[in-house]
Order: sequence, then structure tokens, then C-alpha cells
Amino acid sequence: MRLKDCHNFQDFRTLAKKRLPSPIFNYIDGGADDETTYRRNTAAFETCDLVPSVLTGVKDVDLSVTVMGQKLALPIYCSPTALQRLFHHDGERAVAGAAEKYGTMFGVSSLGTVSMEEIAKQTTTPQVYQFYFHKDRELNRAMMQRAKDSGVQVMMLTVDSITGGNRERDLRTGFAIPFKLNLKGMLQFVLKPMWGINYVTHEKFRLPQLKEHIDMGSGATSIGDYFTNMLDPSMNWDDVAEMVKFWDGEFCLKGIMSREDARKAVEIGCTGVIISNHGGRQLDGSRSSFDQLAEIVDEVGDEIDVIFDSGVQRGTHVLKALSLGAKAVGIGRMYLYPLAAAGQPGVERALGLMKAELERDMKLMGKTSIDQLTRENLRFRF
Ligand SMILES: Cc1cc2nc3c(=O)[nH]c(=O)nc-3n(C[C@H](O)[C@H](O)[C@H](O)COP(=O)(O)O)c2cc1C
Repeated sequence: MRLKDCHNFQDFRTLAKKRLPSPIFNYIDGGADDETTYRRNTAAFETCDLVPSVLTGVKDVDLSVTVMGQKLALPIYCSPTALQRLFHHDGERAVAGAAEKYGTMFGVSSLGTVSMEEIAKQTTTPQVYQFYFHKDRELNRAMMQRAKDSGVQVMMLTVDSITGGNRERDLRTGFAIPFKLNLKGMLQFVLKPMWGINYVTHEKFRLPQLKEHIDMGSGATSIGDYFTNMLDPSMNWDDVAEMVKFWDGEFCLKGIMSREDARKAVEIGCTGVIISNHGGRQLDGSRSSFDQLAEIVDEVGDEIDVIFDSGVQRGTHVLKALSLGAKAVGIGRMYLYPLAAAGQPGVERALGLMKAELERDMKLMGKTSIDQLTRENLRFRF
């Protein structure tokens, strides 16, 4: 199987599985506990059907949206994800390059493997910085200042990771950063020698956003320790209100799932909320993002941008979320498998296929611009 044989999400997943040592594949592919929320995320799109209109004249379709003050050529953007250079040696450079080619936004993770400064210099399209809240308030301010100085347009605070999700696939393989593989896990690396050759012949693996806080060399501090020791589980609305004030720009909360929390986000001055359950990687048993979207749009959709992620695999999933009132849709695994499968050409192919799918689906729906999508286009089955 090669890149040209990949026509959809599942094809890219299959190719990524072939290329990656299984502990790394399972890190991307897995969810928390029994993975019920993870499965439900995508299944939830099937609870409603699209109702198309015909004979509306759909020669030219405009897929652009404006979200968090940023004009995007597509209604999807690449949500921030950790450790991308483990999946392919070009990591964030490849994903940001592909996102730029398709005129959309790219999110740099706090656990990213290329610096936010480098990505900001490399691309002209809008950039998000995904932030975790540290016990050390000075450090929080210093990191936000760093993001400001590098020209990041949107600050995204992840609020659903107050503690790590229970990813049992990682426990079985021993996946951790720095690596602490068990024997079975190590064997999986031996079985994928090309990945190993690429890993050792390219620039050393780093976490530039956190280089002073995680010791990659001796392994004295791991990502697990960073979460336990440096992040602040007592973070509350007052803390975030201060951050919003300090940032003084586009600020969104990623991982909002209740309408009450969305309301509080408005009250403290956020300009957006992302309805997300972290792709089913945090609280298993949590409702799917799609099931929660409508009530949150109804609560705050006229006041701030309601954005959506988790479970998206198809253009029709995107259209359903936009029809319910989301302003834009984040994708995670949908670009990570292509990255692992083939680097930047892989991500470009995935975004290109998604763009073509969205254009085709819009035409079949009888729509020429995203603002024509409304709840009138949907019927729920129960
Ligand atoms: C491998 C992986 C790493 C992730 N790392 C982060 C991260 O560092 N910070 C964050 O806020 N979200 C992270 N996420 C969550 C994504 O930003 C996004 O919310 C999620 O992937 C959406 O679900 P989907 O993969 O079904 O599209 C990660 C997701 C995956 C799959």
C-alpha cells in the first residue's frame, strides 16, 4: 500500500499502522479506559441525516470561514497534537506546511517537537498556541509572552487535561517520553527498522516549548512528571480570567462540554470555546462532542465562536457540525495518520481529499457557502 492508494481516513490509518512501531501507532490511535467515548465520537454523526436541496445553482462553492478573527480557506483546521516528530521526522513542519498550502490554521502543542517561533516564521497562515496551566504563575506569563512575541494569533488553553487520561494501550506497550519501553514494546521497534533509521539520522528529538522543564537527556523528568509536578490541578475560573486579561486577544478554552461552562467562558472574556473531549483520550464515558454541540451553540453561539472537534473522519461530519452552528471544525487523527504514513505529502493529500469531499458534499447539499448550512439541513433519527 502506498500514498496514492489512500482515499480516506481508514486508508491513511492502515498505512500509518504499517509504517509506525506499534507503541507509537497505539499512542495516536488509542483512547482512555474502554474507549467508549472515542468510538461514540464518530458514531454520533450517524444519529442525524443530511437533507439536501436541489436546483440551487452550485457552480462555485466558497468553503471559507472566519473564526477567532482569522479568515480560513477551509472550515477545518489542524488541532494541536503532541510529539509529531515521533510520527514522522518532519513533524510539525510537515503539518504546518500542508495547513498553509490549504490556507488553514495550525495549532502548536505545548508538547510540540518544533518551536512555536520556527513554525510562525515558516508559515503565513494563522497559528494557535495550545497552553497548559502551570503552578508557577510567572512561568505562565512568560510562556504567553513568548507566544505573543512569536506572533501567535490565537491562545488555546486546554481545560480537559487537569490530569492525564488512562490510556491503557500505552500502559501495555510501556509508551512514555522519554522512552521506557518494555521488552515487547522494544521488539516492535526492531520490527520497523525504517522508522528507527529515520529517528536516529534526523535532528534530535526535543520538546522546545518545555525544554527547561522536561529533561530529555538523562530522562530525570518525564512528560508524566511534568503533568504531575508542574501543572496546576487547582486551576479555576479566576486563574483563567487573569490569563485572558493578560493575553488581551483571541483566547479560547479547549475541552468545554457543558453549557454552564460555556457561559462562564463568555463571562471571563473568552472569544471562543472548543467543544471537545480530546478525541476520547481523557474522560471515558463522557458524552460525544457532537451530542453536546447544539445546546452549547444555543447557549453562547451568538456571543462567542463555538468550535468543534473529536471524531471527524468525513466531509459530511464537518457539514453536520457546521449545520448545528459550529464556526469551524478541528481535526486530530485525520492529519496524524497521513503524517505518519508519508510526511507532508501525506498531510497534503489528506487535506486535498477533504477539500474535494467538502466541495462535492456542499454541491450535493445545494449550498455554495458555509453560512447557508443550518439546522434545516438536518433531521435527527430520535
Ligand atoms: C496523538 C494525539 C496527541 C494529542 N496531543 C494534544 C495536545 O498536546 N494538546 C491538546 O490540547 N490536545 C491534544 N490532542 C487532542 C487533539 O487536539 C484533538 O482534540 C483531538 O485529536 C480531536 O479528536 P480526533 O483525533 O478524533 O479528531 C491530541 C490528540 C492525539 C490523537
